[in-house]
Amino acid sequence: MVDQMKTLDDYKKAYKNSVENPKDFWGKQAENFVWYKKWDNVLDWNFNEPNVKWFEGGKLNITENCLDRHLDSRGDKTALIWVSNELDGEDKKYTYRELHTEVNRFANGLKSKGIKKGDRVVFYMPMVPELMIGMLACARIGAIHSIVFAGFSSQALADRVQDAEAKMIICSDFNNRGAKKIPVKAVVDNAIKMGCTSVETVVVHKNTGAEVEWNENLDIYLHDLTANVDDYCKPEEMDAEDPLFILYTSGSTGKPKGVVHTTGGYMVYTAYTFKNVFQYQEDDIYWCTADIGWITGHSYITYGPLLEGATTMMFEGVPTYPDAGRFWEIVQKYKVNQFYTAPTAIRALMAKGDDFVDKYDLSSLKVLGTVGEPINEEAWIWYFEKVGRRSIPIVDTWWQTETGGIMISPLPLITDMRPTFASYPLPGIQTILVDTEGNTIEENEVEGLLCVKHPWPGILRTTWGDHKRCKQTYFSAFPELYFTGDAARRDEDGRYRIIGRVDDVLNVSGHRIGTAEVENAINETPGVVESAVVGYPHDIKGQGIYAFVITKGKISDEAEFKKLVANTVRTEIGPIAKPDIIQLVSGLPKTRSGKIMRRILRKIATGDMSNLGDISTLLNPEIVEEIKRKAKNK
Ligand code: WT7
Repeated sequence: MVDQMKTLDDYKKAYKNSVENPKDFWGKQAENFVWYKKWDNVLDWNFNEPNVKWFEGGKLNITENCLDRHLDSRGDKTALIWVSNELDGEDKKYTYRELHTEVNRFANGLKSKGIKKGDRVVFYMPMVPELMIGMLACARIGAIHSIVFAGFSSQALADRVQDAEAKMIICSDFNNRGAKKIPVKAVVDNAIKMGCTSVETVVVHKNTGAEVEWNENLDIYLHDLTANVDDYCKPEEMDAEDPLFILYTSGSTGKPKGVVHTTGGYMVYTAYTFKNVFQYQEDDIYWCTADIGWITGHSYITYGPLLEGATTMMFEGVPTYPDAGRFWEIVQKYKVNQFYTAPTAIRALMAKGDDFVDKYDLSSLKVLGTVGEPINEEAWIWYFEKVGRRSIPIVDTWWQTETGGIMISPLPLITDMRPTFASYPLPGIQTILVDTEGNTIEENEVEGLLCVKHPWPGILRTTWGDHKRCKQTYFSAFPELYFTGDAARRDEDGRYRIIGRVDDVLNVSGHRIGTAEVENAINETPGVVESAVVGYPHDIKGQGIYAFVITKGKISDEAEFKKLVANTVRTEIGPIAKPDIIQLVSGLPKTRSGKIMRRILRKIATGDMSNLGDISTLLNPEIVEEIKRKAKNK
């Protein structure tokens, strides 16, 4: 098991050591795992190409470390508690031994369909145990999983399947989500029709049991796939730098890119950060409410906890079904010790009133976590007072899909906390702030661009099929630095406060959405000439989506037309990207070189119209008045 810091002195020593001797520091953590062959070199890197290699030459399998390694000491310990969405549903528990068997069987099923090392397998599933079992089954045989959040549309799914050239899609028949049953297999069928020619098999998990259309050439039920397989599947020997998974995420331009994480470094990093940030103790019950379709679920529902032999929980449902007490009822029922959720959920529950939280016994809680977006002070205090009953530390964890694991976070009862501050970088994380020219900002209390100057084991290695894009997006803004896309401020004690994205990426309810993606979707609507999308502050979602849309000629029924625009976005991306506000405009403010002046639009969307700055250099300054007059947030 990796080291666990216990005191402030431990943290200071670990941090110092990790900066002075990164190879020793991470090499020592890595020794706690099972390697079939030890690495030749802990780290080889440059941020120019970029080329980052951790534990090169090392051979391992991450599932050996998540599962087999624990069988002797924790075989009968509960590895996974799954909580059903249904109110009368039966929850499920898997011991490490049971989870091991299920993963091995699933892996053998995948093999029987010709899936082998390096093949890509896309998951489009609800939060059911089969999703966790399936992703581990891929890792067992060296197949690269790519999990697509099941709220994305057929088109978004097809884009990802095609980019990854996946051989297989694994889905359910229907999903249970709150009071709804969502037809998932039908979305996959549609995606296939859009031309996912690489797909040879669609595996369907019988979840609700409702009837689905069947394609004899492609489809097979999961229970048939694993009906006659062995309980053991020998783990594939992976190189430390072999890809473990691809996870698509939005950027400021173009289609989402496939962030690639590899095996050895990701393993060491998620285990280390899980154990330290949540201060996990052997008998604790740990619950992260994220969806496995996002990086939080990958690193802190599946890999980090299982690597450390933890009991991890997985919840199928939503926080407000049947009412806003659902999370707290589950915490009480399972005596949850560490609870990890997103600010948007906290704000949504806070808005429903204190009664829902006050009536439950939450005395088992030891650590509260938050992730995904900046947490506002009001939500932080509510979380601290109402959920934590003023006695439990909150860890505000800053990180990204690309970082693989938590980068900046308080350590519970070890470092102090300051509301809305993600606080201190973890050992191994050399954060710096720079100005727009790339000069290091040494002084404190100044806003700067957040960068990292040395690799950590969980850093992304490339973007799938397009290494140039990886370089361009993360390593080109400033030479020799990884650029996060976030702005931050540091206080005099060295705590970081994350301000938010400085690129054209929105954070809506903790979901990352590129404005360019939404614009491209809107522009698919018949009758739309051009559009510009910006974010604005939203009480629950953190950011809302505000779309300015130029139409061809006059629209007779504006309300109907806006619905059409919203529906197009839903079809192209999914409901999470639907604009909250659509304003029809006759033009967009542009510079003389034809660039949209988003700065002005952002101010208008925020309702902050008093000082729009100099608009005289615009090609069409007169348009600003028109847009202001009809703006929705005043
Ligand atoms: C972006 C990354 C990391 C898992 C979930 C999101 C924002 C993330 C925090 C935080 C302020 C945060 C940043 C970051 N973000 N955590 N604790 N405080 N902002 O992963 O979808 O890759 O999004 O989320 O803007 O760049 P993601």
